[in-house]
Parts: sequence; structure tokens; C-alpha cells
Amino acid sequence: MGAEDELPKVASASVRCAITSPPYWGAIRYPGTLGREDDPADYVEHLGEICRELKRILTRDGTLWLNIGDVYWGDSPHRDRSWSRRRDATWDRSLTRSRGGSRRSARRLRDLKPKDLVLIPFEIAKRLRADGWYVRADIIWRRVGTAPEPVRDRPSKSFEHIWLFAQARHYYAAFEAYPQWKSAVWDIPVQRRRGLTGTFPEELVRRCLLLGTEPGDTVLDPFAGTGTVGDVAAAHGRKVILIGDHA
Ligand SMILES: C[S@@+](CC[C@H](N)C(=O)[O-])C[C@H]1O[C@@H](n2cnc3c(N)ncnc32)[C@H](O)[C@@H]1O
Repeated sequence: MGAEDELPKVASASVRCAITSPPYWGAIRYPGTLGREDDPADYVEHLGEICRELKRILTRDGTLWLNIGDVYWGDSPHRDRSWSRRRDATWDRSLTRSRGGSRRSARRLRDLKPKDLVLIPFEIAKRLRADGWYVRADIIWRRVGTAPEPVRDRPSKSFEHIWLFAQARHYYAAFEAYPQWKSAVWDIPVQRRRGLTGTFPEELVRRCLLLGTEPGDTVLDPFAGTGTVGDVAAAHGRKVILIGDHA
């Protein structure tokens, strides 16, 4: 049911807009391999390949709204050598020091030192741009209601990125119809669904959907999770293709 296997089955130029939040690199809460790569560069490559398939599937005037967050090098348990052997491990947030635990990887990788922000969202944006996508916006989702991290020497992470990518210079985006969303900073409360965190708030999906599609269009989420995109699409008369463990 992975995006890698299912996307090739979707017809070319059949989807107006993709709205998705892939597994973040370093968060090993999910099954599958995306996000568990030892090297963040491999993750960027892996996700870049998936997005290349999206390019084929989107209409020429279609858009991709990609939600992604950043991570600090050394903060992810599976970056630690002992953790990298435990592929089936579930991320226990208490294990990392910045989250109140006692573990921290001391390993360096190229210029990455423990405590460095990895800048994954920007690496992905650059990868997609190199693949021909137009990087049209870096929308900041201010995660209203996120608990502050127990850190003393930096601000607490309180936002994520929603990159707006287009595959052509002229594309469908209804910002004129929704002037209230023209600011690139969106304040939206976090929302748990079916007891899970890391799920889309419906309001976030609603904005991307209304900006990126017209009634009757098809929207796609290749990492559908609990299926938030499906629920919002149905509520607004859009067709939907969901891939992943939403069933
Ligand atoms: C950040 S969550 C997305 C949550 C979703 N936006 C929602 O509102 O429920 C990422 C999801 O992708 C799934 N996943 C992981 N690897 C995948 C893959 N290769 N193909 C499809 N889904 C995958 C995970 O199990 C998880 O449900």
C-alpha cells in the first residue's frame, strides 16, 4: 500500500492538486522505510523520487502542497547507532535529551553536528526545484497549541512548512477568491485524529483544497494516514485518491 508502489498505477494528468504530509525524517513511528534513512540526503532523494511521480499524475496546471517539519541532528533516537539496528522500534519521545530523556547521538555527518537544525524542508524544496518544480511559496503553519519543548538554549519549534509547488509557470491557485489566506503565515490549531498526533488539522486541508481545486476536481494524498484529506474533499465535493494506511 506504499506510495512508491501505488502512485505508478494512477493515471497521468488526472489530479488537480496533491495535499500531503509524508513521514518526517527521523520519526520512526510509522511502518515503511521513508523517514528511516540513516542519511537525510537519502530521505530527500527518496521523497524526491515520489514527488517526480506526482509530477506525472498532476494536471499541467496542478499544484503540490507539501507539509514538512524540520528536526535537529542528534535528536532522533534511530540516528544513534544502537537504535539504527532496531528498525521496528517505536519512537519514544522521552529517549531524546531535548525532550527530557538521556540519549543523544554524538555522531557527525559531513557538516552536520549534534544540535544543528538539519534544514530538511529546504533540502526537499531544492531537490524538487532541481527536478523542474516551481517553488512558489513557503507557507508557515504556526502550530497553535503545541506544547513548548523542554529546551533552554533555543526557541521551541512551533511551526512547520507547507511548500506550494507548481509544475508550470501558470497554474491554478485561487488566492484571489480567498484573500484571507493570502498571508504566508497560517495560524491553525493542531488537531489529533483517532488518537493520533501528526495528523492534518481539517482547517489546514480545507485551505489547500479550496485554493488548489475547483468542485469536481480530484485531489490526491499519497501519505493519507487517517484520511483527513479524504474527509475534507468529500465535504467540499471533490473526488479523492488516498494512498496509505487510512483504510
Ligand atoms: C505524517 S502522517 C500523515 C497523516 C495524515 N496527513 C492525516 O491527516 O492523518 C504520514 C503517514 O504516511 C504513512 N506512510 C509511511 N510510509 C508510507 C509510504 N511509503 N507510502 C504511503 N504512506 C506511508 C504513515 O504510516 C503515516 O500514516
